[in-house]
Amino acid sequence: MSSKTADSQWSSVNQFLSENAARFEEQLKALIRIPSVSAQPAHNADTRKAAEFVCNDLNGSGISAKLVETAGHPIVLGRSPRLEGQPTVLVYGHYDVQPAEKSDGWDTEPFEPVEKGGNLYARGATDDKGQFFTHLKAAEAWMKAGGGLPVNVIYVIEGEEEVGGANLEKFFADYASELACDYAVISDTSQWAPGVPAVTYGLRGLCYLEIVVHGPKTDLHSGMFGGAVANPLNALCRIISSLHDASGRVAVEGFYDAVTPLADWERAEFAKLPFVESEFASRLGVSALSGEAGYTTLERKSARPTCDVHGLWGGYSGPGPKTVLPAQAGAKLSFRLVPNQSNKEIANLFRQHVAKVCPVGVTYEIIEHHGAPGVVVQTDTAGMAAARRAVALAFESEPVLVREGGSIPVVGLIKDQLKVDTLLLGWGQNDDNLHGPNEKFSLSDFHKGIRAGARFMAELAE
Ligand code: BES
Ligand code: ZN
Repeated sequence: MSSKTADSQWSSVNQFLSENAARFEEQLKALIRIPSVSAQPAHNADTRKAAEFVCNDLNGSGISAKLVETAGHPIVLGRSPRLEGQPTVLVYGHYDVQPAEKSDGWDTEPFEPVEKGGNLYARGATDDKGQFFTHLKAAEAWMKAGGGLPVNVIYVIEGEEEVGGANLEKFFADYASELACDYAVISDTSQWAPGVPAVTYGLRGLCYLEIVVHGPKTDLHSGMFGGAVANPLNALCRIISSLHDASGRVAVEGFYDAVTPLADWERAEFAKLPFVESEFASRLGVSALSGEAGYTTLERKSARPTCDVHGLWGGYSGPGPKTVLPAQAGAKLSFRLVPNQSNKEIANLFRQHVAKVCPVGVTYEIIEHHGAPGVVVQTDTAGMAAARRAVALAFESEPVLVREGGSIPVVGLIKDQLKVDTLLLGWGQNDDNLHGPNEKFSLSDFHKGIRAGARFMAELAE
């Protein structure tokens, strides 16, 4: 293709994007109004409706798409018309969302999108409906105004990301040959700050566990039995307090053995990022920042492994006192991991640790929930360069290269099964409050994301 043709096609695509911007927003709102909460069976019909919406949208643009049934929620699988000799990209997104009730602290109904200050407020606005939808609209523009997509694109939009996605692995195994690609692209991360776009090259992994400690057959009077019988809640607190040492390091033996140390260039890049610790602390309402000694806040929260307790139960926490020695106590906790740490191996190390520190007189069980490996993708590939040029053009600023602390399990799956790296092109902001009340997504970033997604295909084709 001559560069003149390419230029004129790109300008048609751009014109289409401008002319259809308002319709794209209305379509996104319609998708958001479907409460596709994957965790709640009461919403199963809605979850399917969201899948059908996505499937119809792709087919409406001329991308042939179908629903692939799983043991859980369906997966939307789409494919652009085949172009010989051009690279293939797999775009992944998730149409399911976290639960949301107005009473959780929302100012407006979570599934009724509201525009305020240039943002769209609703569950799923940024995680991940608003973000993955940009790729569908980019495709529509190329199909309807640019003479077709300049590269081959496979769309995998699933519905179980927010519940640990047990069925996706089988899907990738079953469809491995159909899913063969050169790169994967996911928009489910954040920009660095307003006006500072980012390309994310690393994510942390996750090892999510639960421990239940059992003591006496029933709750006991702590005056009559306390001192003679081990208290499961005391025991659990001992176990949990043994997980860190005084310098903020995880004190599970072997925990750091597989950790790939931060490269000098990475530490230098982290240090260059605009970040003011005091502003960060005051935004979060904490009096001081805290973490592993020897690392900066940015390194600690995105490139170092950690351990956090998410919930603790047992005994009495109702109004007034009750002198009970509880029969049971439990905790949910997770380790965030970095590349080369295996979540299976970390679960085993945790088991060995608990076996060593658990006081006598109680028993326990450990339940392993979902996990994900930490990932770092190659930064010197043609795909990465194409992505950076596309983001720079659409957001009118060079993207910074960052590692983020969250986890996207499919990135590991894509690497294992399809042997390719994922380009993490996120359009969110750090204060979007994903998973919390008043989740939002900037509408101008929505449109820039569409333009970046569209441009990325052209850059990759060249
Ligand atoms: N979009 C997030 C992941 C994310 C958040 C990446 C922030 C980078 C920065 C994703 O939907 C998510 O919430 N992932 C879960 C893991 C999953 C196994 C439930 C997470 O990170 O806790
Ligand atoms: Zn999420």
